[in-house]
Amino acid sequence: MDVAIVSGASSGIGLSVSRKLVEMGYEVYGLARDFGRTSYEDDAFHKVVCDITESVQLEDKVSKLLREAGSLKVLVNNAGVGHFGPHETLSVTQLEQMVRTNLLGPMMLTRLSLRHLRESCGFVIDISSTGALQPGRLGCAYTATKAGLHQFGLSLFEEVRKSGIKVVTIYPDMTQTDFYKSAGFRPHDDPDCHLTPECVADAVQQALSQREGTVVTQIVLKPQRFQIDRT
Ligand SMILES: NC(=O)c1ccc[n+]([C@@H]2O[C@H](COP(=O)([O-])OP(=O)(O)OC[C@H]3O[C@@H](n4cnc5c(N)ncnc54)[C@H](OP(=O)(O)O)[C@@H]3O)[C@@H](O)[C@H]2O)c1
Repeated sequence: MDVAIVSGASSGIGLSVSRKLVEMGYEVYGLARDFGRTSYEDDAFHKVVCDITESVQLEDKVSKLLREAGSLKVLVNNAGVGHFGPHETLSVTQLEQMVRTNLLGPMMLTRLSLRHLRESCGFVIDISSTGALQPGRLGCAYTATKAGLHQFGLSLFEEVRKSGIKVVTIYPDMTQTDFYKSAGFRPHDDPDCHLTPECVADAVQQALSQREGTVVTQIVLKPQRFQIDRT
């Protein structure tokens, strides 16, 4: 069985991607701080409690699971947090949390995974955001972390493509998840105005389904119409 690691697998996009990978026959190790509200169970879905902002804990847990699994085919860097509002209203703690979760965490997880991915000619799949590609008015620090992840992925591919590793960046626009619970806005309920976590999981499947030798490096996903609700 091919092995996948998915960060942020307790809810939303990461949970949907984990389910999709299990359906595709992968053994999935999901990382998150709290699986208390995650009802999904499957013998091939392993819930690993891990805070990806804690470098010592991350290295310990990921090294242990890689020893146990013995190989790795797919790493999905999905865990993320967003704090929105005028930049001067964000605390240093919020800024640090976004940089550590959205940018440093993926860089550390990738570093820990590369040796195994080289052996399997595997995939790094980064969940960035459409905010990485265009200026936005709702969170310049959040979009800066996602733009950093975008550039990290593109440059990483140039570094590792000769060794057979594929690097894919997915840029979802507003997706209906818990992500916006304290944002002050959320995607409009009309199905034309938001993505679902399953849409992003389908994009992961699409990236993994190319013939060997072709790499889908970037996938941008947008709803048909743009409309948000203030909360
Ligand atoms: N929803 C959108 O509109 C949208 C659009 C573009 C991109 N994205 C990106 O998509 C990704 C998933 O977001 P989502 O919408 O699915 O929101 P979500 O439901 O809030 O999921 C976020 C996930 O990240 C995990 N996480 C957060 N901090 C973590 C940490 N320190 N260590 C380990 N896991 C951590 C959370 O688990 P725990 O809380 O249990 O740790 C949760 O599983 C994020 O990177 C987000 O930036 C979302």
